[in-house]
Amino acid sequence: MTGFTELIGALRIQAEICGQMGSPFNEGLLDRIARDLQAGGPSCRLFERWETTALRQLADDGVMIRVANTFNHLAMGGEAPALSAAWPRPGEPLDIDGAWAAARAAIGPHFEMLSTFLDHEPQTNEVRRAGGLLGGFLTVAAETGLPLRCFEIGASAGLNLYWDRFRYQMGPVAWGDPDASVRVDADWEGDPPPRVPVEVIERAGCDRRPTDLTDPVQRRRLLACVWPDMLDRLARSRRAIDLALAEGVAVEAADALDWTRARVRPRAGAATVLFHSVFWQYLPKATQEGLAAAIAEIGASATADAPFAWLRFEPPPTNLRIIEVWLTSWPGGVERRLALAHPHGASTIWLA
Ligand SMILES: C[S@@+](CC[C@H](N)C(=O)[O-])C[C@H]1O[C@@H](n2cnc3c(N)ncnc32)[C@H](O)[C@@H]1O
Repeated sequence: MTGFTELIGALRIQAEICGQMGSPFNEGLLDRIARDLQAGGPSCRLFERWETTALRQLADDGVMIRVANTFNHLAMGGEAPALSAAWPRPGEPLDIDGAWAAARAAIGPHFEMLSTFLDHEPQTNEVRRAGGLLGGFLTVAAETGLPLRCFEIGASAGLNLYWDRFRYQMGPVAWGDPDASVRVDADWEGDPPPRVPVEVIERAGCDRRPTDLTDPVQRRRLLACVWPDMLDRLARSRRAIDLALAEGVAVEAADALDWTRARVRPRAGAATVLFHSVFWQYLPKATQEGLAAAIAEIGASATADAPFAWLRFEPPPTNLRIIEVWLTSWPGGVERRLALAHPHGASTIWLA
């Protein structure tokens, strides 16, 4: 018996979540890693730093996702050809046992690379979340009749700053340039949101640790966070990276609270939208409170000619497995729950 009791339990929970969210590969991989830890296999040395870490801390630090992603990261390059060959490929059936055997064998020869990857918290940027946010942007545009200024906090690589350049096909919702390179296909339940053209006249984002897409090392890290058998997500992310690189808008390295205070204020002739997705839960309570107060202050300065909206795609604090899309609009501070959504944006239930 090893001392990894909490990590083993956490990996099993995460395996179940991955299965429910459409990644049988990660479900199987994490389950095999848990068994290897239980049996005292080579995973023990690789994940030694978390031998006695409590479940809550493991979850807060995104450890289970790091554990899965480190093998994906290695498989994505040319360093471990046997691992790369065993990894999921388009059109081929999954061989989870074969992939785990190759991953387990890679721990010794590639220990340093696997271990270095584990040092960093996961840094994702999920493009399909834009599908859950779309209805909020359209609602603001329809209600104000103004062009939008979009400010994203916790923007990661900034891929969703280009949400208006994607093509959306979600049940009855068809929006955006039909020839767009980035396509967001997702399920939709309920009425469609308002269908209006939108002009984005300004966009900016911040992240405390932005991914610099011009750096191939950081690009690889970002893509390693896409679960390996979700090949459509991977292809969409690659196309969104190409779009972001072509547009060249950089995400500023800053804390969301400081940046919001310094950069976001309403401006006449446009609707200013502050938005975020799967970000709030990572803030310490004091920052959440500070940000909520800063947003209310910005809202209080909004006028009919210079409206302000706060749009968010976030799980409620008590259930991280679903997403609620909320919109608060100023002047007036009217708060509405617009939709429920899948955490990766695979489906939206429109409530508004
Ligand atoms: C799970 S990722 C989500 C990224 C992106 N919003 C998406 O939906 O794909 C959470 C992001 O929040 C960022 N973050 C966490 N705390 C932050 C803070 N205080 N200020 C700015 N960014 C922060 C992290 O660096 C990370 O990029």
